[in-house]
Amino acid sequence: MKYPKEYLDEIKARLKVSTVVSKTVNLKKRGKEFVGLSPFKTEKTPSFTVNDEKGFYHCFSTSEHGNIFDFLMKTQNLKFGEAVKSLANLAGMRPYTFSKQDEEREKNWQEYCSIYSQYVQFYHDEILKNEEAEIARNYLKKRNLSKEEVKKFNIGYVKKNPIFYEKLKKEFSEKILTESGLFYLDKKKNTYVERFRNRIIFPINNISGQPIGLGGRTIEESNYLAKYINSPETLFFKKGSNLYNLDFARKLSNKIDHVYLVEGYMDVIGLNKNGIENVVANLGTSLTNKQILILNQFFDDITICFDGDESGYKAALRAAENSIKELQPEKNISFLFLPNGEDPDSFVNKNSKNYFIDFTKNSKIAIHRFIFNHHKKHTDGSPSSMAIFEKNLRSIANSIKDDFIKKYVLEYFLEQVSALTPHSNINKKQFYTKKVKSLKLTQKHFNETKSLSPIELKEFSLLYLIINNLDIFQKNIHLIENIKFFTNENKLIFDAILSKLKSEKKLVLNNLKIDDQLINRIFKFASIKHILNNQKNDEQKIFELLDEYLHDLKIYGLEVRIEELESKFSKDLSEATFNEIKDLKEQKKKQNLN
Ligand code: UTP
Ligand code: MN
Repeated sequence: MKYPKEYLDEIKARLKVSTVVSKTVNLKKRGKEFVGLSPFKTEKTPSFTVNDEKGFYHCFSTSEHGNIFDFLMKTQNLKFGEAVKSLANLAGMRPYTFSKQDEEREKNWQEYCSIYSQYVQFYHDEILKNEEAEIARNYLKKRNLSKEEVKKFNIGYVKKNPIFYEKLKKEFSEKILTESGLFYLDKKKNTYVERFRNRIIFPINNISGQPIGLGGRTIEESNYLAKYINSPETLFFKKGSNLYNLDFARKLSNKIDHVYLVEGYMDVIGLNKNGIENVVANLGTSLTNKQILILNQFFDDITICFDGDESGYKAALRAAENSIKELQPEKNISFLFLPNGEDPDSFVNKNSKNYFIDFTKNSKIAIHRFIFNHHKKHTDGSPSSMAIFEKNLRSIANSIKDDFIKKYVLEYFLEQVSALTPHSNINKKQFYTKKVKSLKLTQKHFNETKSLSPIELKEFSLLYLIINNLDIFQKNIHLIENIKFFTNENKLIFDAILSKLKSEKKLVLNNLKIDDQLINRIFKFASIKHILNNQKNDEQKIFELLDEYLHDLKIYGLEVRIEELESKFSKDLSEATFNEIKDLKEQKKKQNLN
């Protein structure tokens, strides 16, 4: 008898794994987990761990792994129903009484599973052995898949004129066979047709490894056949609630916190073949919130890696705006964009595992940054487009369910917007950059992204240039002594350097006596370091760079002054102010042309 999922979930929600396990095993807290001596083996050093967040226990010495029900079944030798009864009691819930409908559903489910298991097994055997499946084996060879992958993923091939319906008909009713989605009635001929005929089939398993749906790929180029088809939604197969390969990938979650989410079956298999096994695919539909929540039960980090083409980008954007709603503290969602024309399968096959992993590390972009960058691309700087831009970002941030995440994402968006519009936001900016007391969890998230205004960044670069070329600037002090910095901290640092340069004979970095933290910040954020790395000693280049930064600072100075005057003018409407603004704007224009 099958208990409704809701009932079982309620038990799980009420009982932590550690609560159940600690009735029989002595547990000690270690970080996010508990550890203890394995109940499955006599041992001296604890190898048994419990993770309440993930809802699982795992024994490293015996590889036993499961939830609270498994734990009772295995340690007390109970049947599933008995374990449910016992845990429901512990959770303070009534025992479940089955209705007629439940019984019916349970019977259907058993039959459904049996049909899928038989179907998958039959066609898997065929692809391995049957002569008629030669064409499919050749196709897989062409795609570089070996027997190993075929076995691991239980891949099959349904031939052109399959007869499996006839076999199943002996055991199952017409109704349940049609409801499985594997067959449909050809009304003209009044016969049942196999939906997946002449296709390679990829079984889609539920989380316990039971096949409940299929994906099927044609092996012949064709203009009128869809390249892939999937089982239709059935009573037991809901696309938005399942992920391809989750049953396997979730087992890795004890060791790995990170999972790739890709678009296609072949992407999952291609990555696996190259040694990247923590990967799942959504099933040819857009990503749902539910899929994100399921993945987060097992993994803290999700990297969404769709194809490097326009439709991949669009799918990624949809996924981003949808899944940011579910973002939770301590969980990360990022996006990885592959070079145009590549999908994860082709990319990993060309470049190998390590390259793929390095590429991920260097190129993935956090969900809030991706969304910001996307919307930024669609503004042209005009007031109306900026207004729409900010509005869109605010509404995306507001859709986030977790209040802390919502706050920080909104803050990030607004800081970035205000950095783009330095003069219209001078007052607001102080508000946004104000230090806010924050939860450690979310702080971690955003420390890296704490925004710095463009002018601060420019100043960092300028200071970096000076600090790294103290001797050159000591000889040419006239080039820098009149620089005007805009942010207070940088101004103080610069003044300190300047006075040292003037007073000491030979100055080295260590004698600057500037707070380490300030120096570190400069070194971290000065984008100029990437340019300077190779040409430290080229005086000519250094002077050119200096010129560039001075030029930028000058323009910024003009903008600030214009902003002040505009605000003054809006109050006094004086002609003198107006003329001064006009004059400054002229100057700015000229500078920009230089
Ligand atoms: P792709 O067209 O990107 O295929 O579809 P792919 O994964 O690169 O496959 P190969 O390498 O050509 O074999 C990605 C996913 O989109 C769904 C499938 O789930 C597929 O795995 N899809 C694609 C469909 O549902 N129907 C289609 O006609 C095409
Ligand atoms: Mn592909």
